[in-house]
Amino acid sequence: MDKFVIEGGHPLSGSVTVSGAKNAALPLMAATLLQPGRYRLNRVPRLRDTATFAQVLEVTGATVSRDGDSLIIDTENCANPEAPYELVRQMRASFYVLGPLLARFGRCRVSLPGGCNWGPRPVDLHLKVLQALGADIELDGGYIVASGQLHGADFTFPITSVGATGNALMAAATADGVTVLRNAAREPEIVALGEFLQQLGAHIEGLGSPTITLTGVQQLSAADATIIPDRIEAGTFLIAGALAGEKVTVSGLDPEHLTAHLQLLEQAGVALEVGTDAITLSRPGQLRPTDMTTAPYPGYPTDLQAQWMALMTQASGSSLIRDEVYQDRFAHLPELLRLGARITLHENAATVVGPAALIGAPVMSTDIRAAAAIVLAALAAEGTSEVLRVYHIDRGHEAIEKKLAGLGAVIERVDDRGGRE
Ligand code: UD1
Repeated sequence: MDKFVIEGGHPLSGSVTVSGAKNAALPLMAATLLQPGRYRLNRVPRLRDTATFAQVLEVTGATVSRDGDSLIIDTENCANPEAPYELVRQMRASFYVLGPLLARFGRCRVSLPGGCNWGPRPVDLHLKVLQALGADIELDGGYIVASGQLHGADFTFPITSVGATGNALMAAATADGVTVLRNAAREPEIVALGEFLQQLGAHIEGLGSPTITLTGVQQLSAADATIIPDRIEAGTFLIAGALAGEKVTVSGLDPEHLTAHLQLLEQAGVALEVGTDAITLSRPGQLRPTDMTTAPYPGYPTDLQAQWMALMTQASGSSLIRDEVYQDRFAHLPELLRLGARITLHENAATVVGPAALIGAPVMSTDIRAAAAIVLAALAAEGTSEVLRVYHIDRGHEAIEKKLAGLGAVIERVDDRGGRE
């Protein structure tokens, strides 16, 4: 198992380019199951999660190969509408195959994901919307067995869910009649999925708004797509710049996807020059404490909550950080405490008091974004930190250590037997 050895306190400067978004690549990969054919997805990040999802597709009978930053996916010969527990438990997003497999085959068998470090994370909404579309759902040995011919429905999500909206879009694209999805997710990754489905021939209106209307079509046809930039990776590098940077440019991003984050950075005293696909940031004299509450898009993303907490350890005063999307998503907190942060937690709200003098220490990554937050804090700490279990980071951040080293960070990947890369 690899770890990162990070020597903190080195100022960052220069330019870094973000990769394609993991959370857009995964649903687009799932959507290729809808219609037999050959697809080329460009700008697919090289991540543990995209590799795991390729395996999920392969189990169904698809072939997946890499060509540079593209994935070539052939779903012509898929004949096994199943997603096994061994893969789904590694990555919940595997559940994205439920909608397209059911739509294509009229039946499928997909393992329930099970637990997760952020709390229970149920999938009831995925199942409810599919039932509304006419699916018969049963549980058998830990597997969801879904079957039925899908038809249009008018469904209101009781809470906004990215994954359930994605599954519903894929299931409804070829369902008989009109489907209206209300209180649907508005995340750029869901818009990207909807636009890909439109390219395949689906009739969809209202993407990016809370009400999405689909008119089912009988036939789709394969198409190619380019994955949108990763707004979470972009936001993470902007925080790295704000924490430890002199002048850092983050390029290859879409600033419109980062509105809430940019507003908060400015509130915290960070000067930003926003271009069409790049943002340059200069380190402020002293960061101002800035409260933040996560919310579904266009609100502040829960996937940047941990990183924002790392940033606020260096603000002069007290910041309140509240996660309203995942009430239990605070596994990074005890690790930040090990580095010297001053944080207290009450239910789903953390109070961070800064500026804290962070000191390097051995710390553990627990999930993708918590791991990113720990790396950020280690960059700002005096001395050397060892970040263990970096496979969590490898699930969602493409070559983060190389990108940070390119900005001047002193960071090295070491395998736990002592070998360096
Ligand atoms: C996606 C993202 C994840 C991000 C999250 C919220 C992917 C692959 N993952 O996860 O990085 O943190 O959106 O922005 O895109 N819920 C239910 N029942 C359900 C589904 C969800 O109660 O059936 C709840 C969840 O527990 C959570 C809230 O709805 O409190 C939002 O979750 P959801 O938007 O579904 O997250 P994911 O799609 O799993």
